[in-house]
Amino acid sequence: MRILGIESSCDETAAALVEDGVSILSSVVASQLATHARYGGVVPELASREHLRAIVPVVRLALEEAKTGYSDLAAIAATMGPGLVGSLLVGLTFAKSLSFARNIPLIGINHIEGHIHAAMLDSPVDFPAVALIVSGGHTHLYEVGEKSSYRLMGKTRDDAAGEAFDKVAKLLGFGYPGGPVIDQLAPYGNARAVPFTLAKMKGNALDFSFSGLKTAVLRWTQARDLAAEIQARRDLLAAHPRPTADEWRSATPQTTLDLLASFQRTVIEELLRRAVAAAESTAARSLIISGGVACNTGLRAAARELHLPYPVHFPSPALSTDNAAMIAAAAFPKLARGEFTDLSAAATAGLALA
Ligand code: KG4
Ligand code: ZN
Repeated sequence: MRILGIESSCDETAAALVEDGVSILSSVVASQLATHARYGGVVPELASREHLRAIVPVVRLALEEAKTGYSDLAAIAATMGPGLVGSLLVGLTFAKSLSFARNIPLIGINHIEGHIHAAMLDSPVDFPAVALIVSGGHTHLYEVGEKSSYRLMGKTRDDAAGEAFDKVAKLLGFGYPGGPVIDQLAPYGNARAVPFTLAKMKGNALDFSFSGLKTAVLRWTQARDLAAEIQARRDLLAAHPRPTADEWRSATPQTTLDLLASFQRTVIEELLRRAVAAAESTAARSLIISGGVACNTGLRAAARELHLPYPVHFPSPALSTDNAAMIAAAAFPKLARGEFTDLSAAATAGLALA
């Protein structure tokens, strides 16, 4: 049973072929990073235009690499939301057209459900599970049941974790996206140097907040004269778009490395303490951590060091960031249950999973 997955919710145009919900036959991701980097974030209008340019060749390549024809497809799965509506529309409309023209059933997928299923592509997961989805747009905790049932346990009240990484990096002249650069530099800093306070949440203690931390970083920078070093990093970025870790390091004094390490440690603590509390409160048999921020090596190491009594599933880095294999994987249980999506279904920017 082969499913063609299509993902276009943000700034990646992706298509993948997945067999029986677990074997990835192909996974093609066309990144728009080069387009958006110079604007310091994703520009929705440009994203839609890039998706339009990429969707046909990306789907064609995914089919070719998997040596799969349209007649081999059991279903076409496409992200319906949440995301940028103009971006979602490109992938979903393409999927609907293909579904209509070739008479192949359509399965609309929630992007978050895709990130959760990314973890199941690498190894089987025991249920009930708790899933922490941490990306540029989301910081959400779900209880996940066996039959694709989801219960929202907590979410960010302001910035997403990835957004916090991106904003801090931008503020300090490290460009976009910020997560990978901070991840590379954090090991060179003292993570205890800047004592940031952890957020205390009134009401649901499993909710997250990163705006206080972001403001604390802003105050820290304002209290110092960093203009020259920030300019040096902007110059580095202008000279070539992807400086190496060593180049970044040589443009970053120890105090700033210490700040980055302390910031990253605080984000990791905020994420893990709530994920662990959620898993304990539901007697979860596994913990899934997925989404772009799940690539973070410090987060992976910290989760390992907790020696939790249940397995922690991180998808491989390529499956943690946006991709279409996770969309096809999430569609497989729905195909088995005959849950198809009508061609009148709309792309929904704020589509909720639960
Ligand atoms: O899942 P994703 O590719 O797209 C969204 O759905 O948002 O996540 C992108 C986010 C960005 O905010 C990026 O800075 C962050 O994931 N990210 C990281 C790392 N790699 C990507 N954050 C921390 N450490 C990383 N290694
Ligand atoms: Zn995502």
